[in-house]
Amino acid sequence: MVKVTFVQPDGSEETIDAAPGQSMMEAAQASGIRGIVADCGGNCSCGTCRVFVAPEWRARTGTASELELDMLEMHEERQDGERLCCQITLADDLTGVRVAVPKSQF
Ligand code: FES
Repeated sequence: MVKVTFVQPDGSEETIDAAPGQSMMEAAQASGIRGIVADCGGNCSCGTCRVFVAPEWRARTGTASELELDMLEMHEERQDGERLCCQITLADDLTGVRVAVPKSQF
């Protein structure tokens, strides 16, 4: 299993166990993580599954595609490490990954 920690805007943290091969969005939704709306179901077309990846994990989560960047640019609240978590596929080397959930997905 892959351990993923979500940090909420109030500082509270939830760590979940996810299956390798799942997207981070799928894992978050299956575990009821607050703030991951994911209106489009993982098609990279809604921009409501944003997270901010902790600096030490960014090399392993990779970089956003052009399409993903287009979606991220629609938001006013921008931060380093921002990704759409439907575009991050979980693998064993991501166990322990930490991401922050934005105050709003809209
Ligand atoms: S779920 Fe819609 S962009 Fe990620």
